[in-house]
Amino acid sequence: MLPTMDDFDFTGKSVIVRVDINSPLEPDTLRIMDNWRIKKIIPTLKELKEKNARVIVLAHQGRPGKWDFTSLEQHAEEISKLMGEEIKYVDDVYGEKAINEIEKLEKGEILLLDNVRKCSEEMEKKSAEEHARAEMIQKLAKYGDAFVNDAFAAAHRKHCSLLGFIPVLPSFAGRLMQKEVEMVEKLLEEAERPRLFIFGGGKYENAIDVIEKLLKDGKADKIMLGGMPANAFLAAEGKYEMEVDERVKRILDKYREKLVLPVGTIDGKDIDEESIKIFKDEISNAASIFISGPMGVFEEEKYSRGTKEVLKAIASSKAFSMAGGGHTAAAINKLGLEEKFSYVSTGGGSLERMLMGERLPVIEALIKFKRN
Ligand code: 3PG
Ligand code: MG
Repeated sequence: MLPTMDDFDFTGKSVIVRVDINSPLEPDTLRIMDNWRIKKIIPTLKELKEKNARVIVLAHQGRPGKWDFTSLEQHAEEISKLMGEEIKYVDDVYGEKAINEIEKLEKGEILLLDNVRKCSEEMEKKSAEEHARAEMIQKLAKYGDAFVNDAFAAAHRKHCSLLGFIPVLPSFAGRLMQKEVEMVEKLLEEAERPRLFIFGGGKYENAIDVIEKLLKDGKADKIMLGGMPANAFLAAEGKYEMEVDERVKRILDKYREKLVLPVGTIDGKDIDEESIKIFKDEISNAASIFISGPMGVFEEEKYSRGTKEVLKAIASSKAFSMAGGGHTAAAINKLGLEEKFSYVSTGGGSLERMLMGERLPVIEALIKFKRN
């Protein structure tokens, strides 16, 4: 069982918290475009603050070398806005400057450190035990009585700040992590049948593996496809121009009757009217629905109708409904539908791995090093 924040008394303690507030940035200004992931970690921070804990927060934004790799100063401003009070920020992770701020931190205060991916050891893929020896962990762990990992969207990464504290400090899943894991387990183990899984989006490589695994494990009763995954399947049936993936042929051979494909597309960029009708019908017949990825190029008004109609149909159905993936969450939020879904996950890759039945490195480590 996953250790959670119920398993430790944080009152007056110093707590190191790893969150995932990696956010979409405006390409020209590098300003945060959507603070949704930041909102999702506020309950954990509030709970610790209410316990009068000293809270040291670690997070990342982008990847070194990528355009959206920035400092976390504006993330601190967003957290302050959402908390309704100033939190502290320092543009350093574990150097003298950061340590100075950590030593000055009072009970009930929150300090966000800079982008942890500035540190070269962060993105090395290692075990928790190996990461525990890294300079980052050695320098910071001594200022913590406990570690909370609330970074579900990064929980598939074997990175230093995600794993390294776990063998060293009493470690717990944060409230978001706890909820995310609970909801995926619900979807795969308990959700009522028939279960409909819908995949779309601009990539299909991973989706195909997820689709095959869900069918093989009998977790999905039907799989409906839009976006690039649909194109990949239509190609195998000679209805779309693109290289045919061997895995797709295999899935079609074995599970054709469980698949719902568009009967027509608009320039290959959205599903057509007839498909929308068929898709809505399938949605109304499902007891549980999962969706990841828009049905078309949702950002362009011209190709957004399929996605809108499908999301609205899910939102108004009485089925258990779950959504995942950054683009899907953004589309749901844009349409103001989040409250109408049973759950919208912050995960992309991490959620995908869980749907494949894999145990995430962060969750594995939290369980492995759980103290009685
Ligand atoms: C994400 O947004 O996918 C997570 O924050 C993990 O980031 P990464 O994909 O760059 O490792
Ligand atoms: Mg990613």
